[in-house]
Amino acid sequence: MRMTAGQIPLPGPFRPRRLRTTPAMRRLVAETRLDAGSLILPMFIKEGLSTPKPIGSMPGVVQHTEASLARAVREAAQAGVGGVMLFGVPAIRDAVGTQADAPDGILQRAIAIAREASASEGGPGPLVMADTCLDEFTDHGHCGVLTGDGRVDNDATLARYVSMAVAQARAGAEVVGPSGMMDGQVAAIRSGLDAAGFADVVILAYAAKYASAYFGPFREAVDSTLKGDRRTYQMDPANGREALREVDLDLAEGADIVMVKPAGPYLDVVAAVAARSDVPVAAYQVSGEYALIEAAAANGWIDRKAAILEAVLGIKRAGADIILTYWAKEIAAWLT
Ligand code: PBG
Repeated sequence: MRMTAGQIPLPGPFRPRRLRTTPAMRRLVAETRLDAGSLILPMFIKEGLSTPKPIGSMPGVVQHTEASLARAVREAAQAGVGGVMLFGVPAIRDAVGTQADAPDGILQRAIAIAREASASEGGPGPLVMADTCLDEFTDHGHCGVLTGDGRVDNDATLARYVSMAVAQARAGAEVVGPSGMMDGQVAAIRSGLDAAGFADVVILAYAAKYASAYFGPFREAVDSTLKGDRRTYQMDPANGREALREVDLDLAEGADIVMVKPAGPYLDVVAAVAARSDVPVAAYQVSGEYALIEAAAANGWIDRKAAILEAVLGIKRAGADIILTYWAKEIAAWLT
């Protein structure tokens, strides 16, 4: 350090601000960049709707009809979005989630519609992915089937997941996303897909999924019937080390991509998983993360675009290669 006469230390040659002087300089030295191809847009389709239905707690997000889903996937393709993750809301629910693996179930129809729409715009088009979980299809709203005394039956649920994943692959899903946090779900689905001739279908494993209050708006998005919570299968928000155990197990079971969810409140977990994993790491910016920014922006309390980009950039900087975000299409358009 050089000293002035008044003995105030000056920085000498070391001035980090030099690299922040102009927009061009800041662009040159940016360590992290967003790109449309690594963004995935989650989408909802509801059976029996005649017009798209807005989700009150997620302004700008709707439950799609078949026609509006096709349009929205074409727009995602035009924007260069990397994938769409589909969630289905069936007209009929029962104890075992029969519609989840019905060949003509709403999610299977949505997959076929999305594949066609994705391919219709010329370029590679977004990959078509499906949520592989029973909660939208069961009348009790849990992610698995229940035992006689009302507990979620891990091993009986696995058979349902396998059947669901195979039905999704038959409908054209290129990626399946087991999100139920049952033990052994990745191994079961991998062997089921392989046996059915779908060795190339990718498993995006929800490896570390937390029992999060940030899923609140999603419950409206899928008309959830859940009473109680998912704390016997989703992870305790207090635990970080346990996430690595879940990731290790999913990798050993054959996960192609591992995911952390939610993203923003769990950036430490994203970073730790990225350091550990030799497969791509995804992070899901969930409904509550979306709703917070939209609500603040609607009140004029925050700069919407800047806050969205900063939140998503933070997830990327933490180590996520792939980000699921309800803003995927909008961000992709901003990036071009
Ligand atoms: C379960 C599932 C949930 C979400 C994605 N898959 C809800 C839950 O586990 O309760 C939440 C996504 C979001 O909040 O945006 N199939």
